[in-house]
Amino acid sequence: MLDDTDTAAVQVDNVLEVNNIEVIYNHVILVLKGVSLNVPKGGITALLGGNGAGKTTTLKAISGLLASERGEVTKGSIKYRGEPIHHADPAETVKKGVVQVMEGRHCFEHLTIEENLLTGAYTRSDGTAAINADLEMVYDYFPRLKERRRSQAGYTSGGEQQMCAVGRALMSKPETILLDEPSMGLAPQLVEQIFEIVKSINEEQGVTFLLAEQNTNVALRFAHYGYILESGRVVMDGPAKDLRENQDVKEFYLGLSDEGRKSYRDVRSYRRRKRWLS
Ligand SMILES: Nc1ncnc2c1ncn2[C@@H]1O[C@H](COP(=O)(O)OP(=O)(O)OP(=O)(O)O)[C@@H](O)[C@H]1O
Ligand SMILES: [Mg+2]
Repeated sequence: MLDDTDTAAVQVDNVLEVNNIEVIYNHVILVLKGVSLNVPKGGITALLGGNGAGKTTTLKAISGLLASERGEVTKGSIKYRGEPIHHADPAETVKKGVVQVMEGRHCFEHLTIEENLLTGAYTRSDGTAAINADLEMVYDYFPRLKERRRSQAGYTSGGEQQMCAVGRALMSKPETILLDEPSMGLAPQLVEQIFEIVKSINEEQGVTFLLAEQNTNVALRFAHYGYILESGRVVMDGPAKDLRENQDVKEFYLGLSDEGRKSYRDVRSYRRRKRWLS
């Protein structure tokens, strides 16, 4: 959990700037309707919102993976360290230091955990010694992966596969990791563990994170800043601490309100009051 000193230490140097982007799939389906967000260097920024809000689409627009989905950034711009990347080839963006961990983990099932991790290093040209040193670094963060290094990834648990996906991203020596829904399908204790590791990687390696999450509660405890997306638009943003205490966020996204705890579904149908839109 963050305290005030951590919040004060967040830098304002934005490594990634998404400026008013529109994304259309298949030439007709308008999904992002003017999304803007800034990702400060060395921070953890959360992109929040429910099913179909546009979180994955935003991450893919940044990493350049939209094209393979017949999606396109039709308006606005995305800049990484000041350079436009919204029409860049995904491999070029990886070389700039931005790597995406896809939703649903995506390990190579027939390869071992260690082989999977090594595939993350394929763009590197700094030699075997440096790569092996980073492999050990990944094993330090994820001791479980070291134990399972010789196991075929397809036979490991969901949590181990999520760790493997993050570990593989680390092996490319990234400056920024786009992490899509790390909590998906995992038990709460494991979610907590993975977020703790993300926090350590952020603090010790200086890796910048932009993470998409439906799990608002955990994301806002670990992130420094959050953006809430609804139907392809940012409806609210602010320091994580402020969002955690915001009445609307509590009611709509954290399932809490003054009247007590409510289920997400109750809250959604209960009152569609959105003060931040008025
Ligand atoms: N390849 C595609 N072609 C057409 N429409 C798509 C495509 N991918 C996503 N969409 C639509 O875009 C919208 C946003 O989807 P997206 O996957 O970005 O949401 P999300 O916030 O990541 O949701 P979730 O939390 O369920 O992962 C949805 O309405 C979805 O149906
Ligand atoms: Mg998604």
